[in-house]
Amino acid sequence: MESEKTLVILKPDAVQRGLIGKILNRFEEKGLKIVAMKMIFVEKEKAHRHYEAHKKKLFFNSLISFITSGPVCIFGIEGEDAVDVIRTMVGETDPKKAQPGSIRHDFGMQVGRNLIHASDSVESAEKEINLFFRPEEIVEWKHNQYCWIYE
Ligand code: RTP
Ligand code: MG
Repeated sequence: MESEKTLVILKPDAVQRGLIGKILNRFEEKGLKIVAMKMIFVEKEKAHRHYEAHKKKLFFNSLISFITSGPVCIFGIEGEDAVDVIRTMVGETDPKKAQPGSIRHDFGMQVGRNLIHASDSVESAEKEINLFFRPEEIVEWKHNQYCWIYE
């Protein structure tokens, strides 16, 4: 498996509910490596670009107002097969359908308040990381526990 980078956004509901640490802890304990992090307000224009694929959907306007409604935390996270690994940890879009043990199941109740975004492919991860981080904001570092996580 290849090492990949993916983009995670802790949405305004996760921040307001004080779940930043709990959610981030899951990724750290899994053995994934945080390579970028910051707290921002997502500008309307950037929100439109990020969710461009959904612009014809009925929920688009509420999605944009929600993601811009408060501060979010953005992370670049790296690991083997990180895109799929993190999508599995995040769970299905609708928290009511998400598997127990997934973030959306364990902390969420509704699709419009599903706490977290994670890139859905290596291609979108690259685009999304470039949308939210400047190259110098990505920190390349060696995981000290590497040989205890990977053989
Ligand atoms: P995300 O992009 O946020 O990681 O979520 P996802 O891939 O699981 O789901 P996606 O289909 O990309 O939808 C993006 C976000 O739009 C909101 N949504 N609302 N009301 C609805 O039926 C509905 N469907 C999607 C959710 O906030 C979802 O995360
Ligand atoms: Mg998506």
